[in-house]
Amino acid sequence: MYKLFIKPFLFLFNPEKAHHITFSLLRFFLCIPFAKQITSSLFVVKSNKLVRNIAGLSFPNPVGLAAGLDKNALLVDELACLGFGSIEIGTVTPKAQSGNDKPRLFRLPKDEALINRMGFNNDGASAAAIRLAKRRNKNIIVGGNIGKNKATPNESATQDYILCFNDLYEVVDYFVVNVSSPNTPNLRELQEKEPLTNILSTLQQENAKKKIPKPIFLKIAPDLTDTQLQDIVEIVIETKIAGVIATNTTISRDNLITSKQEVTDMGAGGLSGKPLTTRSTNVIKFLRSKLDKHIAIIGVGGIHSAQDAIDKLNAGADLIQLYTGFIYKGPALIKKINKRILSEIK
Ligand SMILES: Cc1cc2nc3c(=O)[nH]c(=O)nc-3n(C[C@H](O)[C@H](O)[C@H](O)COP(=O)(O)O)c2cc1C
Repeated sequence: MYKLFIKPFLFLFNPEKAHHITFSLLRFFLCIPFAKQITSSLFVVKSNKLVRNIAGLSFPNPVGLAAGLDKNALLVDELACLGFGSIEIGTVTPKAQSGNDKPRLFRLPKDEALINRMGFNNDGASAAAIRLAKRRNKNIIVGGNIGKNKATPNESATQDYILCFNDLYEVVDYFVVNVSSPNTPNLRELQEKEPLTNILSTLQQENAKKKIPKPIFLKIAPDLTDTQLQDIVEIVIETKIAGVIATNTTISRDNLITSKQEVTDMGAGGLSGKPLTTRSTNVIKFLRSKLDKHIAIIGVGGIHSAQDAIDKLNAGADLIQLYTGFIYKGPALIKKINKRILSEIK
């Protein structure tokens, strides 16, 4: 149904318009009495064998929605009906901001990829918190992906992360520190040893003040060298955070089928989808070879098939997330992955 009707319809519109149409349709359709129950019965795979206890949280299945699709926590209950075990909202910043000028999202259908330079367009952390407080479906895990405002200089970035952390603390199950988006100028410099240690250790101090501290993950770029990845490993161990999300989008444009001219015309931004599959799996492999089993790895980047998901899990990921694969393959992919994971266990 998605492949034959919904995707061809949505791909008639520019990608950002298609995103808004999908959100409106999902919200409208799932308001109809029993629509949520019927949709859940079609897509949600329930089994104790799929449950993953990671970082003190019980994930009903290992397949999550990656950050960026529901930046403003507008549709958590609706997206939960499609079979995800977790949904990561954000990236949110302390203050609302409009992001980069449009167009800022592009499809590369031949590569099953996207290029985006959204630039953390979001309504602000407190707006997301108000929406999350009203969510009804408590069966899935919700993560809060946090960043800094564009106008905040890197030297003051820690304060932005603390503000978001406190705004969301009551309404999310885990946090993700995003220092790896290529679309906020100089943000990725925060992946360097000194600023990153400062952000994570300050957040951990704030976390320790809470009655129940929440797991904090770090989301990293796929473009880091082995030396930089080794630094990340040391920082993760030193700051005792829960784990790493690998990876965000890449700035590389290697090995694309789409013509060089078309790609150049799209301009700057992060590339996601199939061209990212191998690199992100290799980053997971590297991290797992250096990190103890109790430090969680969430694998994301180019999962477009059940086999891609299994490869990430075999590389050492405890959980996985999708974004671009979900756009190209639809919600059936989530069910396929969960069924395949079940069949591998038996
Ligand atoms: C349009 C778009 C917006 C995104 N926005 C965010 C974001 O706000 N924060 C973040 O951490 N990652 C963001 N991402 C990155 C995804 O969460 C994911 O890490 C990346 O796309 C690789 O996974 P994929 O190949 O399954 O898409 C975004 C990706 C896309 C395509």
